[in-house]
Amino acid sequence: MATILRDLSYRYQWFYDSISRLAALSVGGEAHFRQLALQGLTIHSDTKILDLCCGSGQATQFLVKSSQNVTGLDASPLSLKRAREHVPSASYVEAFAEEMPFADNQFDIVHTSVALHEMKPQQLRKIIQEVHRVLKLGGVFTLVDFHTPSNPIFWPGLSLFLLLFETETAWELLKTDLVGLLVETGFEVNKHILYAGGSLQVIQGRVDG
Ligand SMILES: C[S@@+](CC[C@H](N)C(=O)[O-])C[C@H]1O[C@@H](n2cnc3c(N)ncnc32)[C@H](O)[C@@H]1O
Repeated sequence: MATILRDLSYRYQWFYDSISRLAALSVGGEAHFRQLALQGLTIHSDTKILDLCCGSGQATQFLVKSSQNVTGLDASPLSLKRAREHVPSASYVEAFAEEMPFADNQFDIVHTSVALHEMKPQQLRKIIQEVHRVLKLGGVFTLVDFHTPSNPIFWPGLSLFLLLFETETAWELLKTDLVGLLVETGFEVNKHILYAGGSLQVIQGRVDG
């Protein structure tokens, strides 16, 4: 699945950003979209945040407005190069999310935005376990990603987007009980909110004792 548009969106930053902005109109625009997963979180200037699968810093740029202790992690050297140019105040690490080069209990918040839908099922499980490992006790995993629409009006738009830009893992995510996976891993899930007719979900899970 997916089309040449997917490659183009990763090759040309302006194209990726334009598509993101267009998609974000379904929730009131990009600035609002980028705040969705941060709602309700207390973030101080020293809150240690990991932006997991940070891409070119699309969400990182909003995280650094609240904290001076933001790390972006991504597997793509090109994305990280762009992130370093775009959001120089964060630190960056090139690594796979399923094998993070961090000690246990490091972060107050792990945030990930529209990235988990790129993972195969086993990889997804491993990543959630890794997130649990690197979060401090009481730390929060907050994510925003696709979800099966509850309002049928949103199906054509989501389907078209997935057909043009995504691969089978995104379709797989629609069938995945992410909340269940977090709970299985040991998170206490205290927020699961749907947006854009249910086609987007925000989940927040806390590491409890
Ligand atoms: C759709 S982009 C999302 C970028 C950004 N978070 C955003 O909100 O626009 C997905 C990102 O995940 C990264 N990625 C995919 N698989 C990964 C993995 N296993 N480990 C780390 N990064 C990964 C890709 O390189 C890409 O930058």
